[in-house]
Order: sequence, then C-alpha cells, then structure tokens
Amino acid sequence: MNEFKKHVVDIQNEAFALLAKVKTEADLNEIEIRFLGRKSEFNALLKSLKDLSPEERQTVGPLVNVVKQEMIKAFEEAQQKMKLDSIDWEKERLDVTAPGVKLPEGHLHILTQVQREIEDIFTSMGFDIAQGPEIETEFYNFDALNVPEHHPARDMQDTFWIKSKEGQERLLLRTHTSAAQVRYMQTHTPPFRLMVPGRVFRNEATDTTHEHTFSQFEVLMVSEDANVGNLKYVAQEFFSRFFKTEVKIRLRPSYFPFTEPSFEFDISCMSCGGETGCSACRNNGWLELGGAGMVNQNVFVNAGYERNRYQGLAWGLGIERLATMKYNIPDVRLFHSGDTRFLSQF
Ligand code: PHE
Repeated sequence: MNEFKKHVVDIQNEAFALLAKVKTEADLNEIEIRFLGRKSEFNALLKSLKDLSPEERQTVGPLVNVVKQEMIKAFEEAQQKMKLDSIDWEKERLDVTAPGVKLPEGHLHILTQVQREIEDIFTSMGFDIAQGPEIETEFYNFDALNVPEHHPARDMQDTFWIKSKEGQERLLLRTHTSAAQVRYMQTHTPPFRLMVPGRVFRNEATDTTHEHTFSQFEVLMVSEDANVGNLKYVAQEFFSRFFKTEVKIRLRPSYFPFTEPSFEFDISCMSCGGETGCSACRNNGWLELGGAGMVNQNVFVNAGYERNRYQGLAWGLGIERLATMKYNIPDVRLFHSGDTRFLSQF
C-alpha cells in the first residue's frame, strides 16, 4: 500500500525534475509521452488501481488523480514558458513614440474639385445650381434651342446618337449643357440665375485639347432687363475669383442659333495680364474660352414664355479648359486617363 503511494510520488518527482531542465520542444514532447502517454508507467499504475481492494482504492485513488492533474498542469506550464522564451523581445518591443505609418488616402478627382470650386463661386453670387440628364432628347439638345433638323448649325457639334425604336423620340448624348436651359425654364419663372455643370459628349477625334467626353458649365440669367453689360460683369467677377487675379473679358461677334447677338468669349491672359503677350496666350494677350450671348427669343417661346417679355444672358464654357489653365496641365486626355501619377498631384 505504502509502496504504491511511494511509486506514484517517485514518478511525479522524476517528471518534475526533468521538466525543470527541459530545453527543447522535442524533449518536452518526449517527457510528456514517457510520463503521461498511454504506455507510460503512470498509466499502468492507474490501470492497476482496479486490482486493489475497495478500501485501498479509496485512500490511493484520490492521490493518483491529484498527481495526474499536477503533472498535466506542469507540462502545460513548461510549454507556455518555452513559447515565451522563444520570443525575441528586443524585436517585438513596441515603440509607442515611433511615427505612425501613413495609409494611402483617396481624394476627389481634380475635375470634381474644380467643378465644386466653380459651384461655390456661383452659389455665393446667388445662382441656383441645377443638373440635366446626360442622355438627352433631340428636342432639348437641339430643337428647343432653335437648331432645326437639317440646319447646318447641327453639324457644329458632332453627335453621339442613341439607337431608338421606330416612332420613339430620338435620344443622344448631350453635346452641351445648353440642353438644360429649356428644361429649367419650363419649370421656373424669371427672374432667375442658373448654373449647370456637367458632362457633355462629342463624336470627334481627340488630341491634347479635345476629348469626346468633357465638362461644361452653363450660365443662364433671365430677367426683364438682363443685358450684355450684366454678362460681362458676372463673367469678370467669376473669373477674377476663380483665378484669384484681376481678369478682363473680351467679347467677339460669333454665331449660335440659341443666342442673338452671339459672342466668342475671351479672357485676358493670366500669365502676362494681357498687356505684353506671352507663350501661354501665343503672344496675343487673350485666351479663347467658349461661347456666349443673349438668349434668342425663339428659345423663350419654345420654353413657353411670351416673346420679348424677358431678356437672358447665357454662356457655356469648358471646365477642363479652366482646369488646364489654372494648373498648367498639358493634355486634356490626362483627366480621364485614370493615371494615379497624374491624379495624385492634386
Ligand atoms: N452651347 C455652346 C457650346 O457648347 C456654348 C454656348 C452656351 C453659347 C450658351 C452661347 C450660349 O458650344
């Protein structure tokens, strides 16, 4: 009986002595098998419990179980200790004062930034900002703007037509933001001040200054007495704020079916102030921006207004053109290139 107890305690002592010295994981596994494995001496002892008398079993049984639990615990602790010992603490140390790693961060596309800047300036001048559909009807893009079918003026803008069913209204990708003019006028009564930014499309060859997909912003001011002086003033105010320098406006005679009179719209060169001429303005002091004019009365009639009741001023300019001037961008095709080397600069 005492012998049995002594045997159990001897095994435990031996196991603990080995565990205290163990160095490698392989050795640890070997010790575990030797002392707790199925074929271990200890397991044989456990099995032989059943050969003892019930009284003997009662005194020895609990001891054997306690020893077994203690050995299991000792193995687990040795394993844990080995794991901690294998860590290189010098490497793992966390330096809370080290500068953090900056994660790459996205931002708005340069065109969106410029468009929002334009919107902000017009909002501050009391303009309403509206939008029109990019897929437009032939009516709003052409007919309502006094551009009848078969009129040569339609060829001024090469159009992407959308296949439509027989008898259905013809659809197209809008060629200019002017398409939003009559849409807005049909639901608003003058006086109003409107600005429409948005994407437009033209079926033409691309080069450094032309894209088939680009952006414009339309300005439309209608009241009973709007005039060309207002147009020049609003334009001068807008461009001086946009380029953060005094800008002069020059209007040259031109033709658009939806305006009368019509103008080509130039601003004084920002690089040389329009005085001397430089490489940016090819030495003539002025930069061409786009079209403008006083709204043709036929357009008002198409919108449902009474002829000659109102006067309106309008212009439609390219947003990319303004962005390339402001940020010195050499090629409009960069805007839609998706090239992050370009985009991340803004
Ligand atoms: N819609 C014309 C274009 O895209 C520009 C324009 C707008 C001209 C408004 C006059 C008035 O070329």
